[in-house]
Amino acid sequence: MTDKNKEMTIFQKMTELSLKHNSINLGQGFPDEDGPKDILEKASNALFELSNQYPPMKGLESLRKNISNHIDTHYKLQTNWESEILITNGATEALAASILAMTNQGDEVIIFEPAYDSYKPIVEKAGGIAKCIPLLPPKWELTYEILKNNINSKSKLIIINNPMNPIGKMFKTSELEAISKIVNENDMYVISDEVHEHIVFDDNKHIPIISVKGLEQRSIKIGSAGKTFSLTGWKIGFVISTEELINTISNMHQYITFTVPPNLQEAIAYAYKKPKKYYENLKQTFEDKRNLIYKILTKYGIKTHLPEATYFLNIDYEKKYPGLDPEDFCLELIKNAKVTGIPISVFYNKETNEKDVSKLIRLCFAKNDTTLIKAANQIGEYLY
Ligand SMILES: Cc1ncc(COP(=O)(O)O)c(C=O)c1O
Repeated sequence: MTDKNKEMTIFQKMTELSLKHNSINLGQGFPDEDGPKDILEKASNALFELSNQYPPMKGLESLRKNISNHIDTHYKLQTNWESEILITNGATEALAASILAMTNQGDEVIIFEPAYDSYKPIVEKAGGIAKCIPLLPPKWELTYEILKNNINSKSKLIIINNPMNPIGKMFKTSELEAISKIVNENDMYVISDEVHEHIVFDDNKHIPIISVKGLEQRSIKIGSAGKTFSLTGWKIGFVISTEELINTISNMHQYITFTVPPNLQEAIAYAYKKPKKYYENLKQTFEDKRNLIYKILTKYGIKTHLPEATYFLNIDYEKKYPGLDPEDFCLELIKNAKVTGIPISVFYNKETNEKDVSKLIRLCFAKNDTTLIKAANQIGEYLY
C-alpha cells in the first residue's frame, strides 16, 4: 500500500476503530439527522411521477432554474440557467469534472493546505502538478505575496475551499481580491469549492467566487445540495461558471457520469425554493452546536477556536501530549476518551512542514446535542 493510499483511508480507519472501541464518532463529516421530510417525500413521489430514464445531461430544467433563482435571491447574482449551470453527482464529481477540464499535462495547480482530500489526486490524474501551499495559524491568511511567490509560467489554476474545511475559515474580500489580481496577471483560472456556503456563523457573509471583481470570466463556483439540505448521501452538486467554461466542464461530466438521478434532482429543485427562513434555521442550528461544544471544551481549558463556518472545530492537544504523533493521539482519544476525531495532518501533502499545525484534531459537530455534550465532556476529562 502506498503512503497516498494510507492517507486516503484515514476516515475509514478511524471509523473502523471507532466501532471497535464503541466511541462517539465525530470524525465523519455529515449530520446525524436526515434532511427535511418534505424533501424526502418529493423525491419519493418523483420516482413515480417523472420519467426514470436519462434526464438532460446538464440537469433537469427545474433544478437549474431554481438554483439560478436561489443565487439571485441570496447573492443578487444573475446567472443563465440554460448555459451557466451544470448539475453533477455531488460536489465531488463537480470538482473532478472541473479540474479535469481545466488542467493540461504539466500545468501547475495551486492548492491551499490543510486541503480537502480530493483536490490533489484529481489534479495529478489530470496530468497536473499540485503546488500545495500551507496557510498558517492562527489567522490562516492568504496574501498576494504568498501567491506571487508560488506562481511561474506553468501556473494555470487556483483551487480554494471557501468556507474552508477543516479549519472553518472564510476568505475575506482582500484575499479574494489578491486571487483576482494574480489570476488576471497570469492568465489563470480559479475553482472555488463552496459546499459549506450556507453553514456560516455570526455576522459572516459568504462571498461567491463568481461575484469577485475581475473573476467573472475566470471563475468556477461549486456547490453541494447534500450539505445545504443535510442529504449528503444523495450526492447532488452543481457548477456555475461562464457558458464557455460550463461547456468545457460538461464535456468531462458527459464521460464521468453523464446524468444525475431525476427524482433526486426534482426534490432538490423543490428544496431550493425554500424561503430564507430555512437558511436562517440551518445557520442557527449549527451555530448553537458550535457554541455548545466550544463552551464545554474551553471549560476544561482545551485549546480550540471558534470556526467562522462549516461544521468542524479543531482541538489542539500539544499542551498535554507534545510528543505524540497526531494519528497516535487519535487512537489514544478513541481508546481513552471514547471519541473519534480526524488528525489535521492528513490534510497536508507529505512534503509540507507540518510542525505548526500537526497537533490539531478535527471534530464534526453536526451531531445531536446529547451526543455532543457527552463527547465534549469525555474529551475534556481525558485532556484535563
Ligand atoms: C470541502 C468539501 N468539498 C466537497 C465535498 C464533497 O461534497 P459532495 O458530498 O456534494 O460530493 C465535501 C464533503 O464533505 C467537502 O467537505
